[in-house]
Amino acid sequence: MDRSPAGSLRAALTHHLIAEGSIRDERVAMAFRAVPRHVFVPGVPLEVAYADDVVLMKRNEAGAPISSVSQPSIVALMLEQAEIRSGDRVLEIGSGGYNAALMRELAGPKGSVTTVDIDPEVTDRARAALAEAGYDDVRVVQADGEFGAPDGAPYDRIVVTVTAWDIAPAWIEQLEPDGRIVVPVRLRGQTRSIAFDKVGDHLESRSATLCGFVCMQGAGANYERLIPIAGDDVGVIFDEDQEAEAHPYDGVLEQSRLRVWSGVVMNREEPLSDLALWLASTLPGYCVLTGAEATPSGGAAAVATCDSLAYVTARPGRRKSFVELGVHGHGPDAGHLVERLVDQLRIWDAHHRYGPGPEFQAHLVGEEAPAGFRIARRHSCFTVSWAGHPGAAGS
Ligand SMILES: C[S@@+](CC[C@H](N)C(=O)[O-])C[C@H]1O[C@@H](n2cnc3c(N)ncnc32)[C@H](O)[C@@H]1O
Repeated sequence: MDRSPAGSLRAALTHHLIAEGSIRDERVAMAFRAVPRHVFVPGVPLEVAYADDVVLMKRNEAGAPISSVSQPSIVALMLEQAEIRSGDRVLEIGSGGYNAALMRELAGPKGSVTTVDIDPEVTDRARAALAEAGYDDVRVVQADGEFGAPDGAPYDRIVVTVTAWDIAPAWIEQLEPDGRIVVPVRLRGQTRSIAFDKVGDHLESRSATLCGFVCMQGAGANYERLIPIAGDDVGVIFDEDQEAEAHPYDGVLEQSRLRVWSGVVMNREEPLSDLALWLASTLPGYCVLTGAEATPSGGAAAVATCDSLAYVTARPGRRKSFVELGVHGHGPDAGHLVERLVDQLRIWDAHHRYGPGPEFQAHLVGEEAPAGFRIARRHSCFTVSWAGHPGAAGS
């Protein structure tokens, strides 16, 4: 056992990740005990290097984070999802070195790891840190990960560590027939790390967990559209594929308000993410209201027309730490929008709240996608389906 200060902090971090449930597999725990994270975050105090927190490495000119060494609990959850076996050939998109070293431990001497980053500063830093930590057999490639790393293909596992809006064709092509890709996909304002298995020429999800990553740059960059509706700070967000959706004009929130409480009571700690995706799956005009008073920092689930807006809100429940969900509506069509949102809140509560959650498939555009709620991106079409409700409204 490594009794150095860094070794002790590493053991404590691993213990914490096991205790909170991010690490379940002893092989993943062994990798975390082995890889010296402080080498990958030079200049950072040891306590910070071994805290369960992201270490930001670079911002763009506008101040937005563009590179980091990821939070250990997210890294652990994604490695659990990836189920890397000894001997696997692994491709990582988005480098930093730390995760590549962990994957090198898991793939073992018969396996291999290639890590790709678009930013030469990142690949230089990752290469130097990997060599210093004793992982100089990790192949570090500076390229746009949208195109994978064809010269090392095929891969048994691909792990993407940057927010993606799409599944690039190269990722499917470069994956072994029974391979797995773990990718943080942003759909309707939420990012989920989804583990997809390749089945024939499409992908089927095996697990999904909420996460947050910096945005993809290069050919796969895609952004959400923020439409201001009350000055610059309050707006509604649509995905780029929702171009045809009508959006309300600036000032809609000043129109008379309608408020309906749903009777759906939740613990304050219960995540609203699956509910929000259910609403996105069933309601045309779905968007995310952001920056408005009394809405969560990640925004509130909403539906919009060209002159009206309704969004999910909450009020204290009868019991402490519980809230009741309701809907606020503004504009001439508010009554109709509020009714549709409240109906779907109640349907989700009755039929899906305690269910297995959404499942995802990804098909390349041009292939036949199954029934369900479809989100069509440039290269791939995602289908979201809910147990017992395969045919939720398509878009
Ligand atoms: C969260 S960091 C990766 C963290 C890293 N895997 C670790 O070990 O902690 C995301 C990285 O993705 C990179 N990136 C962004 N767009 C990319 C693209 N199109 N291809 C490859 N890398 C990209 C960024 O430069 C950034 O370094």
